Amino acid sequence: MKALLKERRVAPSILSADFSRLGSQVEEVMDAGARVIHVDVMDGHFVPPITIGPLVAGSIADQVHAAGGAVDVHLMIEAPERHIEAFAEAGADAITFHQEATPHVNRTLAAIRELGCLAGVAINPGTAVEALAELRGLADIVLCMTVNPGWGGQAFIEGSPDKVSRLVPLVGDARIEVDGGIDTTTAGPIAEAGASLFVAGSAVFGADDPAAAYAEIADAAGAV
Ligand code: DX5
Ligand code: ZN
Repeated sequence: MKALLKERRVAPSILSADFSRLGSQVEEVMDAGARVIHVDVMDGHFVPPITIGPLVAGSIADQVHAAGGAVDVHLMIEAPERHIEAFAEAGADAITFHQEATPHVNRTLAAIRELGCLAGVAINPGTAVEALAELRGLADIVLCMTVNPGWGGQAFIEGSPDKVSRLVPLVGDARIEVDGGIDTTTAGPIAEAGASLFVAGSAVFGADDPAAAYAEIADAAGAV
């Protein structure tokens, strides 16, 4: 399961899915080949909106695992260390929190690994890549936000491929994930810069045919 998060993969974000038929939306993209399902958790403090929590992550976890997939949780919440256990129990395979959300990045990464999950740390567009310089070897995933977190459907920030290429030498073996504004146009350049996990919300679930949209973005990213 966790090996999937080491491959080059497009991760559909359920934030843009139709929650009244979440199971069938997840099934559609997994039938098209998706194996990493991205879950966006927002608390109304770290970012203005409130979205979903462990209950919803847990409601799809069995389905995702049964189809050979992994649940990739993205915490956009304050004090993430208080909530990681609940997400691990809900079935998360990877848990990523924001560097800006806690003074205890090192300790929180270790705690996530202790829970048996892959540990990820995210940085906002306004945070310098050097903020991660002391974390080499501690994170399995480094998430470079390519929009300001909080909403789906925003425009990709232009300098993002350059930022990802500056991250590459700082992160050691960690995978670089990108999130926000990823579509068939932006996936190629950001892949070339060094990203290997590509979160796509509106470009997948906002399309008339999410399965076809997924396949086109995966193709553009050179993903499996
Ligand atoms: C934004 C979330 C994203 C969001 C991306 O704060 O972290 O995962 O779903 O949405 P799109 O792909 O529409 O930019
Ligand atoms: Zn996200």
